[in-house]
Amino acid sequence: MQPQITVLDAGGQYCHLIARKVRELGVYAEVAPSETPASVLAGRKGVVISGGPSSVYDPGSPSIDAPLLASGIPVLGICYGQQLIAHLLGGVVEKGVRGEYGFAQLDVTGADTILHGVEGRQQVWMSHRDLVTQPPDGFKVLARTDTCAVAAMGSVSRRLYGVQFHPEVAHTPCGRTILSNFVFNVCGCQRDWDPAGHVFAVEQQIRAVAGDRSVFFFVSGGVDSTVAYTLCLRALGPERVHGTYVDTGLMREGETDFVRANFAALGAKAFAVEDARERFLAALAGSTDPEKKRLVIGEKFVEVQERILESEHYLDGHWILGQGTIYPDTIESGGSAKADLIKTHHNRVAGIQKLIDQGRILEPLSSFYKDEVRAIGRQLGLAPDLLDRHPFPGPGLAIRCLCTETGGESERVEEGWIVPVRSVGVQGDSRTYRPVLALEEFPPSEEAAAQLINRRVDVNRIVVAVAGGCGPLAELRVAPAYLTSTRLERLRRADAIVRKLSHQSGFDRSIWQFPVVLIPLGAGARPDSIVLRPIDSVDGMTARAVRMPDDLLISMARELMQLEGVAEVFYDLTNKPPATIEWE
Ligand code: XMP
Repeated sequence: MQPQITVLDAGGQYCHLIARKVRELGVYAEVAPSETPASVLAGRKGVVISGGPSSVYDPGSPSIDAPLLASGIPVLGICYGQQLIAHLLGGVVEKGVRGEYGFAQLDVTGADTILHGVEGRQQVWMSHRDLVTQPPDGFKVLARTDTCAVAAMGSVSRRLYGVQFHPEVAHTPCGRTILSNFVFNVCGCQRDWDPAGHVFAVEQQIRAVAGDRSVFFFVSGGVDSTVAYTLCLRALGPERVHGTYVDTGLMREGETDFVRANFAALGAKAFAVEDARERFLAALAGSTDPEKKRLVIGEKFVEVQERILESEHYLDGHWILGQGTIYPDTIESGGSAKADLIKTHHNRVAGIQKLIDQGRILEPLSSFYKDEVRAIGRQLGLAPDLLDRHPFPGPGLAIRCLCTETGGESERVEEGWIVPVRSVGVQGDSRTYRPVLALEEFPPSEEAAAQLINRRVDVNRIVVAVAGGCGPLAELRVAPAYLTSTRLERLRRADAIVRKLSHQSGFDRSIWQFPVVLIPLGAGARPDSIVLRPIDSVDGMTARAVRMPDDLLISMARELMQLEGVAEVFYDLTNKPPATIEWE
């Protein structure tokens, strides 16, 4: 499908979010590199330039093909995008000293054009250092905030607009109106997009790509691979679609049965479970370092998949590989697909690489966003408890079961205890691996925690004890611990309890993900503690620690303390950055 709106990616983490929001308005949008030639964009009804971390004055900072701004196509620049328009057309952009991050009050002075229906004072979300101090000739200032004199600008005759704030995020309640004004009133787009209405077209495409070949999948049990599989099943029939689920033993309680039941309900005939539990556990014995654990798991996956490829003859010309790749994962879409340097991701299986190189790959969901995949899933009649699941990492419980070769005492500091369990964090673009600061006073103030984490550079996380389990923290020790079946089972039980209670209370609907982590901090017959990490996020790139209702927290902690081997329950108060979502 030809997009009506193209979002030019200037490196902002919200770039895909802009395209998603445009699609939510019923208008098909795609993401493209910022320097896409103006000639390529000639057929578009409008273009949006995203935000980005650079300054227009940085050498090598993202730019656009300047003739675009004279082509007559409407352009909306967001944040860095606005600065770029100003910079290219002779306005003034100044390097900010302090920056402005978070909520701001917008005073609208030009409530026509893209701010139609957005009058008076409005709450918006800002995240910028540089700012436009003088718009280009012919541009009018449309809105301001206390610290930003040009919070929105526009040239009605040239149909060029800029906003310094982020209309695409939920924290800007009037954002949808602004994007809608741009898309419909300025660009004149027509509604042409309803993902659930594309099921028929996607099935046709599957038949065209497959020809007379059959498709096999490695399914994870997650939303994407299940929806992709179901589409293939409908398009090609159950005889021609095979699926294998690898049981690593690192999954949640009941997961294998859940996946099996789902695929049976879909009418899958050739669905197999490969029991690799023993092999993964044996390979992981003795590994404690997070990167080492990931490496071992990656290698084991490769080995298991390679064997399945060979034994089932999936490499012969009769087969192609089906995958649940979604739009933000595709390389061509730019920005967000940049490699995550913080943690190692799975190795690529040589056999799979060969299939990709030969173009024997079928990715029916590669132009859809996650919410759109869910809409398609609903259209296909898939169960809500499958479609609304939280994301779960491939390496599973292994990266939530913390291991160490060395034991040790916690160190008393002014603010609490420095516990020598190291976890992964991210600051700037680099990885940290540091101990955690544990507080004893519950409930803590979130502001105090945020200040603390900025003050203490020797830690990258703060947790607070909530159960008062084995007495004061002074009595707990860190002891050497590995990925054993006993510890994995302990974590699996804890995770199941947390999942049950957060589902029953409805809390799971207000968060994005809820990792439950096992750390080797305990005493005597209770060698481990549990950490609760409910977070809110858009895409996992950044995350906010979410405060749970007290009564839920208390009942959760009480039930977790009944588990064999558990000494204390902690609550993780740290945002990403400086922590990551997973502990590893
Ligand atoms: P971090 O811990 O880096 O996690 O803040 C960000 C998001 O990515 C998920 N995650 C993974 N998902 N395979 C996956 O499919 C992986 O290897 C992997 N590692 C982290 C994590 O659960 C969170 O949602």
